[in-house]
Amino acid sequence: MSDQVFGKVSDLLNEIESAQPATNEELETFRIRFLGTKNIIKPLFAEIRQVPDSEKKAFGQKLNELKQAARNKYNVCLESLSSNGHEVESSGIDLTLPAGPYEIGARHPVSIVMNEMIEIFQRIGFTVAEDREIEDDWHNFTAMNTPEHHPARDMQDTFYLQGSDKMLLRTHTSSVQARVMTSQKPPIRIIAPGRVFRNETVSARSHCQFHQVEGLYVDKGVSFADMKQTLLYFAREMYGPETKIRLRPSFFPFTEPSAEMDAWLGTDTEVTRRLTKGTGWLEVLGCGMVDPNVLENCGIDSEIYTGYAFGIGIERSAMQKYNISDIRLFFENDNRFLSQFRSVL
Ligand code: PHE
Repeated sequence: MSDQVFGKVSDLLNEIESAQPATNEELETFRIRFLGTKNIIKPLFAEIRQVPDSEKKAFGQKLNELKQAARNKYNVCLESLSSNGHEVESSGIDLTLPAGPYEIGARHPVSIVMNEMIEIFQRIGFTVAEDREIEDDWHNFTAMNTPEHHPARDMQDTFYLQGSDKMLLRTHTSSVQARVMTSQKPPIRIIAPGRVFRNETVSARSHCQFHQVEGLYVDKGVSFADMKQTLLYFAREMYGPETKIRLRPSFFPFTEPSAEMDAWLGTDTEVTRRLTKGTGWLEVLGCGMVDPNVLENCGIDSEIYTGYAFGIGIERSAMQKYNISDIRLFFENDNRFLSQFRSVL
């Protein structure tokens, strides 16, 4: 009788030793048979009653060896299956844990402000025109009435592509004016948002890359008064209904007359004082009536059509809006900075 029981144990031991579960399913079958809650070894412990007292100890040891053999086999097979690239629960990683929540990304503050500006102009009939960041000097300079030897073309200000004196990183979104006017007929009413580049020393106040929103309106009978009213509307939508603007005479090769527009932000906070250099006025954009030369360069009859154009810098406004004191933060991609805009998607 006890021989029979011992025989069962050694059969099982053989079975365990020769088992070669090769897939996760086979390993699981093995586990259920030898290690599961209703495993085949368990009932053998009850049969200890049939074993003579002198052999009880040895029998108990045999059963424990059997259990240990099953556990070892299981672990070894588990190890080799997971190192073979089969997915199995491996120690230390609990695959049943629920996944953490996805972190929702945030819009970049420059995009937030740019989109705000785009929406303001879309409401009054402007459509978005986007174009290349790598431009030729004709669209960036020549068409825009900036002659061959103008200082703005200098290596100082412009990033030229290596080995080229024609291809460059656009220095302003005004290049899109030339792209649009050479490919569309008036009436033209577009805004062109995008990134521009200038070879400038990077500091808290200025950077070698920044963003602009360009505006262009060309039609019969477009006047300076139209421009001023449009820009006032923009400033009030952007900075609040009480906002005041002022236009200061200025110069751009591609507009005549030209002006710079300031918006009144006041001097109440440290940031507005810094951004406005203590004056309360923030320089928001450059603008003017499209120079007839520019229209002609692009094949538009300046006897029939007039237009206005403007270029708005984005970063200054974003800094003012979010109390950001260093322009470099926009381009460092530091998540501690960017994640703060998560709530303003
Ligand atoms: N391109 C000018 C700049 O980058 C801005 C501007 C655009 C001025 C259109 C007048 C008209 O400073």
